[in-house]
Amino acid sequence: MKQIIPYGNADKLFDLHGRTCFIVGAGGIGATIAKAFAQKGAEVIIADINAHEAMQICANIQAEGGNAHTYTIDVTLKENVVKVVETVLQQFGKIDVLVNAVGVSATDSAVDFNEKAIDRILDINLKGSVFLNQSIGKVMIAQRYGKIINIGSIGGVLNHTTCTMPYSISKAAVHQLTRSFAGELSEYGINVNAIAPSWVHTPMMENRETAIYEGIRKGVPFGRMMAPHELIGAAVFLATDASNFVTGITLYVDGGYLSCKPLY
Ligand SMILES: NC(=O)c1ccc[n+]([C@@H]2O[C@H](COP(=O)([O-])OP(=O)(O)OC[C@H]3O[C@@H](n4cnc5c(N)ncnc54)[C@H](O)[C@@H]3O)[C@@H](O)[C@H]2O)c1
Repeated sequence: MKQIIPYGNADKLFDLHGRTCFIVGAGGIGATIAKAFAQKGAEVIIADINAHEAMQICANIQAEGGNAHTYTIDVTLKENVVKVVETVLQQFGKIDVLVNAVGVSATDSAVDFNEKAIDRILDINLKGSVFLNQSIGKVMIAQRYGKIINIGSIGGVLNHTTCTMPYSISKAAVHQLTRSFAGELSEYGINVNAIAPSWVHTPMMENRETAIYEGIRKGVPFGRMMAPHELIGAAVFLATDASNFVTGITLYVDGGYLSCKPLY
């Protein structure tokens, strides 16, 4: 009989064995994705400005038998990003997957938002994302292969939380830069996509005012904040051959918030 699935076994579509995955941002979301990718057989490289954080995640993965390494990186410094990417390439020979899970937020009224705070958010979330996509994009062009996953946010689509104007601007930019890079890198067989979560239970969401938790309970159709591990499926899909014909999209993992928020 004619083989209708060229891989023979559809499970191979989601395989990460032999893949070198560079995960930038060792916070709640990055660490969870790094751990999941290692469990699926990938060689995982974790980079963060907080070396201690990255080393802890790395040690945790290694203790479970996974293959993990760490680097310190500051995504706001282009030369530093280029240097770290060069070093990773020298050591591992290739970078198959980038997960850009760096990000910061702050709250203030739109009319009063402090200029330094705006600069910090845009430098890290927006320019940092550009620098990562540029540096890794060049590596992937030379390889004629690669998968880039940027972590956006529903805040890049609508005014999801009050008083987070620069964060929302930065995330709208992440979704748009994803499309720009996807368009230009498609001829080299490179996929560039974004995942836009709603509210995720990570350090970024700690110490927020209680009103936000009540708002999430009422406003998100599933009635709760998501756990970081609920992003693993989307990340594995976009990192593997399962998504070879998918590029330039923003995949919303939001408990139904954007598409089916009931009025009452
Ligand atoms: N937590 C949420 O509710 C949520 C929702 C939607 C989108 N996101 C996005 O997901 C991504 C990850 O968020 P998280 O919840 O894991 O946050 P987190 O605060 O747990 O982790 C963010 C990580 O970024 C690192 N970082 C900050 N500045 C850096 C720099 N200059 N260079 C390198 N690393 C730097 C921090 O050290 C930290 O480890 C972010 O882009 C965030 O905007 C989070």
